[in-house]
Amino acid sequence: MTYQHFPKVELHTHLEGSAPPDFIRSLAREKNIDLSRIFNDDGGYIFRDFAHFLKVYEAACEPLQTPQDFYRLTKAVLEEFASHGVVYAETFVSPDFCGGGDVVKWRDYLAAMEQAADEMSGTITLKAIATIIRHAGPEQAKRTARCAVETQNGFLTGFGLAGAEMMHRPGDFAYSFDMAREAGMHLTAHAGEWGGPDMVQETLDLLKVERVGHGVNAVTDPDLVARLAEEGITLEVCPGSNIVLRAIDRWEDHPIQTLREAGVPVTVSTDDPPFFHTTMTAEYDSLARVFGYGDDDFRALNETAIAAAFCDDATKKAVRARLEKA
Ligand code: ADE
Ligand code: ZN
Repeated sequence: MTYQHFPKVELHTHLEGSAPPDFIRSLAREKNIDLSRIFNDDGGYIFRDFAHFLKVYEAACEPLQTPQDFYRLTKAVLEEFASHGVVYAETFVSPDFCGGGDVVKWRDYLAAMEQAADEMSGTITLKAIATIIRHAGPEQAKRTARCAVETQNGFLTGFGLAGAEMMHRPGDFAYSFDMAREAGMHLTAHAGEWGGPDMVQETLDLLKVERVGHGVNAVTDPDLVARLAEEGITLEVCPGSNIVLRAIDRWEDHPIQTLREAGVPVTVSTDDPPFFHTTMTAEYDSLARVFGYGDDDFRALNETAIAAAFCDDATKKAVRARLEKA
């Protein structure tokens, strides 16, 4: 039994982090860039720990140099997602990797991604979340926010924060999140993947996000768990990522079910699937095996995800119609 063909919604992916290794390898070859250090003998990405993962991630972005590269990347990633039954996805993209935070350059990259998404829209719907790279610091974050607010549209609907969680505090990015909120963008931030409940709490208080990326370490603070449930803050939980990066030791120890039982809106995503040897099919299959999830649980996870999706009501309605076929 596999859930490969069960329709799925996923809210938390990184576009570059979803790049198939073969795609990056062949783009690097075209551009004479030596990336042999980031691949193992089987052709997969290799890294030792989270800090090294971020370095390998940035190296994998090196061959992605033009809007056309991002067009091809978006196409390749959406074909892969769709092959796992994903009918709606959201993806983090950073102006830092698309023209270094320059609005004029970013506009062309974004248009290329949107074109690829449009061409795949009969199969899968994609929305983009312009994302601060936390370790690039609060000043670069303001450039990211400027790029986001000047180009937001029906495709670029969200604003986010990713990167090394232990660098800087959430409040350092409040200016950028204020800009995005005032422009009417949806907001999410990685927190509680590496940081403790204090990081999640500060992220809610100071960045006023609707969703939290990961958020799993909130589980150690019952008051915070109650707050997440009460305020309906959706967690973008990525179990396979947590296991491979060793944020959590074993699948059996993952707090996803504890959080669900506490009434927290929980969703499931892959984060950076080829890096973590995962897919949405593998996530569903593991949840079925470890926690005994069945069709009803997956329908509930999908409904939580589409309710919290950064898209308009017409899109939600169309996605729900596809989900009903499950
Ligand atoms: N960027 C890509 N994947 C990430 C993760 N799991 N945490 C933080 N930043 C990331
Ligand atoms: Zn992530």
